[in-house]
Amino acid sequence: MKLNPLSLASLILLLVSPSIECVGSTSTPTPLPWPEQFHALLYMNLSSSRLQMSDLWYDWPRGRNVNIFQKQLGELLYDIEWNNGTSFYYTLGAQGTCKVTEFEVGIPRPDFLDDANYLGTTVTDGFYCNVWEKVDFIWYYEDVQTRRPVRWDFYDGISTHVITFEVGAVLQDSLSQAPAYCFSQEREKL
Ligand SMILES: *[C@@H]1O[C@H](CO)[C@@H](O)[C@H](O)[C@H]1NC(C)=O
Ligand SMILES: *[C@@H]1O[C@H](CO)[C@@H](O)[C@H](O)[C@H]1NC(C)=O
Repeated sequence: MKLNPLSLASLILLLVSPSIECVGSTSTPTPLPWPEQFHALLYMNLSSSRLQMSDLWYDWPRGRNVNIFQKQLGELLYDIEWNNGTSFYYTLGAQGTCKVTEFEVGIPRPDFLDDANYLGTTVTDGFYCNVWEKVDFIWYYEDVQTRRPVRWDFYDGISTHVITFEVGAVLQDSLSQAPAYCFSQEREKL
């Protein structure tokens, strides 16, 4: 590599005065907020080492976060979370089941990663990523170049890998409607 005199001068400046490093482009990276609407296909490794795929449909304007889990060689489980705190977990078909849960909090805000601690860079799933951690709850990996999420791990050992990420995609309302048998039972309060 051939250094021109200008870059040589700035290199010397950097070495002599480390504080200059903080000016300009080298501030601590922050995660990109989630798009208000997106669809992602996720590969998940559960803490039990069981695997599942999930179609995640995040929709902040509609106050809806949908996960449709396909368990490996197992059932298709719908998890419809609303911003008012109600979540419906159900399966369809003749043996369909449903569980309704009330949470104190709604779905994650697009900026839920604000104030996360920056941990540096690493390669995961073959992508060069920035990594953050928030309240010992989530470890979040974002591609340095495209700024798309690549992976996130939860404290409980669930590891999620992003396979597709379609910004702006919206789930049909009819596919997030819980079946009738969800509305004829007691609710669990969390
Ligand atoms: C799932 O996670 C466990 C624990 O980290 C690991 O041992 C296993 O290899 C993973 N399985 C797959 C298919 O990635
Ligand atoms: C929250 O919104 C969903 C979808 O509109 C609705 O089915 C549910 O009953 C609401 N929950 C509460 C506590 O109002």
